[in-house]
Amino acid sequence: MTTFKRWVLAKRPDGVPSTDDFRLEQSALPELQDGQALIRVDHISVDPGMRSRLSGDSYAPALDIGATIESAGIGKVITSHNAKLKEGALVWGGFGWQSHLLSDGRGVQALDPKLYQGKIKPTSAIGLFGIPGLTAFFGLFEIGKPKQGNTVVISSAAGTVGATAGQIAKLQGCTVIGLAGSDAKCAYLKEIGFDIAINYKTAGDLTAALKEAAPKGIDIYFDNVGGETLDAAILNMRKNGRIVVSGQISEYNTRTPRGIRHTLPFITQRLKMEGLVVYDFSVQFGEARQQMAEWVNEGKLTYREEIIEGLEQTPQAFIGLFSGESFGRRLVHVS
Ligand SMILES: NC(=O)c1ccc[n+]([C@@H]2O[C@H](COP(=O)([O-])OP(=O)(O)OC[C@H]3O[C@@H](n4cnc5c(N)ncnc54)[C@H](OP(=O)(O)O)[C@@H]3O)[C@@H](O)[C@H]2O)c1
Repeated sequence: MTTFKRWVLAKRPDGVPSTDDFRLEQSALPELQDGQALIRVDHISVDPGMRSRLSGDSYAPALDIGATIESAGIGKVITSHNAKLKEGALVWGGFGWQSHLLSDGRGVQALDPKLYQGKIKPTSAIGLFGIPGLTAFFGLFEIGKPKQGNTVVISSAAGTVGATAGQIAKLQGCTVIGLAGSDAKCAYLKEIGFDIAINYKTAGDLTAALKEAAPKGIDIYFDNVGGETLDAAILNMRKNGRIVVSGQISEYNTRTPRGIRHTLPFITQRLKMEGLVVYDFSVQFGEARQQMAEWVNEGKLTYREEIIEGLEQTPQAFIGLFSGESFGRRLVHVS
């Protein structure tokens, strides 16, 4: 008999989540049925976007109390009664915060060995080549529409979405300014090619800091944060500027969001602001991955992963996303 562990939602968080909002359960795995495979989960993700679904409906319905916390995962097929899932294969899917699962193959894909080799580690399937990297790609190209010479500002720039969007914008010939919450993160942004990095926690007046960094104004603001940062960017937008609403992490833990206060520049500067749910572009994911793989292999695009050891640490790893403790794609090594 195989037992497995999983983290479930114990209660709905109020404000910043705490570890007692989650409960670790251990149970016996049911017998493997025809058409099923047993997957041992190696790595799982912790994602800021999951915060909203712990409290209510979001881009997908709220998680039920007692449900396994959803996330991306990578694992190995241990035993298979499913022709699609070969024993020993490395696979990825929406595995959730758990050590094992039985799968009928739906939503599970084998890692393509032609893509995941050399600089492209298997873990990047749920990082750069997963939802965060694809959000950067489609948010930037479909909404930001970068042009040579544009000035692009990115918040939470040292996260996977932000760092990927910034490097891709550089490849399009843009000047790229990143906002991040520590000097170490700012140094990293300079290393990966950002033109300017601003530590928003020590910059003082962010509107003034952005004015100094982008004296001619911002053409594209790629927003992962919302709140005051969004307003500071709005006040610096250039005529016909585009605001990509990727995430609003500064608003995720409050029932009374600060919201946008400066709307006049939308008229005077003819601004456009548009959000995305990256899954809407899923038919184009393969093409985007190929393009990003080329850039990685040519040394033009890099990614940073941070691995937290042990399934037991998962809630703490998740909570750390909201204090700025995380740096790059935060994954948990399960086994
Ligand atoms: N629209 C979509 O389809 C889609 C898909 C995936 C992700 N997203 C969104 O994209 C954004 C980035 O995702 P990611 O996975 O790359 O995560 P991430 O940016 O690494 O998120 C964690 C980081 O957010 C920053 N942060 C936390 N609280 C903050 C606050 N109150 N104000 C400012 N910054 C704060 C911290 O960095 P600092 O130290 O720099 O503060 C922290 O390390 C998230 O908002 C996520 O929800 C959207």
